[in-house]
Amino acid sequence: MSVATDLDLRPGQSVELLKELHILTREGKLNQDSRRKLKQVYHLHRFIEELLGDLPRHEGGPLVADHGAGKSYLGFILYDLTLRGQGSGQVWGIETRPELVARSQDLARRLGFERMHFLNIAAADAAHREDLPAQFDLVTALHACDTATDDAIAFGLQKDAQAMALVPCCQAEVAANLRQHKALALSRTPLAELWRHPLHTREVGSQLTNVLRCLYLEARGYQVTVTELVGWEHSMKNELILARRTGQRKRSAAERLRALLGEFGLQALEPVRFPGLPA
Ligand SMILES: C[S@@+](CC[C@H](N)C(=O)[O-])C[C@H]1O[C@@H](n2cnc3c(N)ncnc32)[C@H](O)[C@@H]1O
Repeated sequence: MSVATDLDLRPGQSVELLKELHILTREGKLNQDSRRKLKQVYHLHRFIEELLGDLPRHEGGPLVADHGAGKSYLGFILYDLTLRGQGSGQVWGIETRPELVARSQDLARRLGFERMHFLNIAAADAAHREDLPAQFDLVTALHACDTATDDAIAFGLQKDAQAMALVPCCQAEVAANLRQHKALALSRTPLAELWRHPLHTREVGSQLTNVLRCLYLEARGYQVTVTELVGWEHSMKNELILARRTGQRKRSAAERLRALLGEFGLQALEPVRFPGLPA
């Protein structure tokens, strides 16, 4: 592939897969429209591989759930570059659009990627499905729409995930609450300027959402790092939240989370999005 080295073909990588995903043209050249996606997926794959490398190994593992899988670029690349060679591990793609699920199932079958599974369900329903394994090692969600990232976190907690790698999409729930209640406790302070204009409400809502998610993960026993996925020129939705389970629930994080919900008038979200906080 005659492209920048970070997008080069990896040893043993399936060219057929890349063509099927339209990352490569039929002639084997990089499809310029896919460049951005490929860069994001490769970066996330690198982080995921590192996370997986630190996890204790177990028979049949690692089990990975990818929420809001879309065309499953991430799942396929992870399987091809990491799990295929290991001869162990599964990827479960969770996606609400049936045609994308059918397409991924078909592609996995044709490529012989037999430890890839795709379910046509919402992320919120995945935790309660009996046809999914009881435990997962790692949960990912790359630009899963709106609250699907929150559902992925809830899934990870339910499934005792050792690690999570989340790149949130826009989330409208917190901004809608901000708009409705105008964060009354702060409305007479200069801080209210931060969400006076609708565009700022959306941005502050999005930022606040991710801050709350991080605190929640810490309060539920994860060590969290927040970083950029790729350079900002490649994506506006670029925040990567990596969580590793330590089992130590941070009470201070729970207190901060509750305090923030209180300040912004978002207390109603606690039972919905942040259940099981330490008292
Ligand atoms: C922006 S796309 C990202 C797809 C893929 N992760 C990627 O980065 O290429 C978001 C995907 O999430 C799916 N989705 C939206 N809400 C969902 C939900 N609640 N549960 C599962 N999938 C969902 C959409 O159908 C869409 O395919």
